[in-house]
Amino acid sequence: MQDALGSPQSALVLGGTSEIALATVRRLAEARCRKIVLAVRDPATAEAPAAELRARGVEVDVIEFDALDTPSHGKVIGDVFDGPTDIDLVLLAFGVLGDQASFDADPEAAADAARINYVGAVSCGLVVADRLRTQGHGTLVVLSSVAAERARRSNYVYGSTKAGLDAFAQGLGDALIGSGARVMVVRPGFVHTRMTAGMDAQPFSTTPDVVAAQITKGLERGSDTVWAPPIVRWMFVVLRHLPRRLWRIVSAR
Ligand SMILES: NC(=O)c1ccc[n+]([C@@H]2O[C@H](COP(=O)([O-])OP(=O)(O)OC[C@H]3O[C@@H](n4cnc5c(N)ncnc54)[C@H](OP(=O)(O)O)[C@@H]3O)[C@@H](O)[C@H]2O)c1
Repeated sequence: MQDALGSPQSALVLGGTSEIALATVRRLAEARCRKIVLAVRDPATAEAPAAELRARGVEVDVIEFDALDTPSHGKVIGDVFDGPTDIDLVLLAFGVLGDQASFDADPEAAADAARINYVGAVSCGLVVADRLRTQGHGTLVVLSSVAAERARRSNYVYGSTKAGLDAFAQGLGDALIGSGARVMVVRPGFVHTRMTAGMDAQPFSTTPDVVAAQITKGLERGSDTVWAPPIVRWMFVVLRHLPRRLWRIVSAR
């Protein structure tokens, strides 16, 4: 059960090797979090982060999870909630960026990205919501993106998957009002992680730790939406209303 400051004592990370997610759980471990489940495609890839968290005094389980395998989600996530401790926080962190040129050449790869980022998230989100509702408490944190705000020519497949995910997460949050459970949507700008390695940084690019700090602050405040860094919120107040012609120029870099 999370404490009076909204700091969770247990967490499930879907996409448990995500650099943003790991920066977040490191911060949670510094606070009150004592139990973390890392749900990953290949458990070997989570060995190092699991060992690091254990060295901080956290009990860590690593479980197999694939966002594409939607029929398995009920059991994989259900087994975690059926364990001895309640789950205070679920961090939905999995996602793929891909690149638009490859998607143009290979529509099936684009469909796979949509299956991971949107279909997989809808499936997991609904399973988690059902469990949180039954528990009567807990927060689902969904890693959306500023890319959800407006499609860019250079990555509109990714942007469209995040727009779908963001709308889903907002609706789910509203549906959970009064249940004791809630959803917090996180919209990072450009973050330096392996997902963006080798790409030109965008204005106000940031680090996983800055996003993690905004997430923990949002949890303490009970926020519905978190932007990271916060200034990207105000950038998009303007950018989302630019005429299309102007947006095409601004978003081309
Ligand atoms: N980096 C950015 O600039 C940025 C900006 C805004 C939003 N985001 C979002 O933030 C989230 C985390 O990204 P990140 O920057 O931390 O990147 P990351 O380190 O590359 O993390 C992506 C995670 O997704 C997992 N994943 C991919 N496909 C999966 C599948 N089919 N099943 C299960 N897990 C799968 C990866 O697992 P493997 O280790 O198995 O590959 C990895 O754990 C993503 O949703 C991303 O879209 C990132």
